[in-house]
Amino acid sequence: MELLRNVVVLLHITGFAVTFGAWAAEAAARRFRTTRLMDYGLLLSLLTGLALAAPWPAGIELNYPKIGTKLVILIVIGGLLGMGSVRQKRTGEAVPRAMFASVGILVFIAAGIAVLW
Ligand code: HEM
Repeated sequence: MELLRNVVVLLHITGFAVTFGAWAAEAAARRFRTTRLMDYGLLLSLLTGLALAAPWPAGIELNYPKIGTKLVILIVIGGLLGMGSVRQKRTGEAVPRAMFASVGILVFIAAGIAVLW
């Protein structure tokens, strides 16, 4: 059970890596677009995060205020990515720069909260 939990944490962190990596790649290429890969990474973080939010194996103690804060941040990021993809499809242009920056900053803050809180 312990090993299974650690595997799910690994997948959870992979979701973060995919989202942040996709964002960093867009920033480095100076395209500043939101992408499907960011959506997939975030979905992986959400699904694995929800699985980890259940207290298993028995006896484990979880920091629910921290988990709740990350969930709120993830929902905001999801909203930004959703709005971004609709906007990009409609206009063909990259999303406003502040919106693009917010995605990366919020993902980074969520990871910071996970590790530092
Ligand atoms: C972009 C959003 C997120 C990022 C970047 C993120 C990042 C991380 C990282 C790096 C860890 C491993 C370090 C640690 O154990 O504290 C972790 C663990 C965890 N995350 Fe997240 N997370 C995110 C969203 C979520 C969400 C939405 C949930 C639940 C609804 C969640 C629940 C958890 C749980 C339960 C753990 C394991 C804590 C433990 O077993 O002690 N995370 N997260």
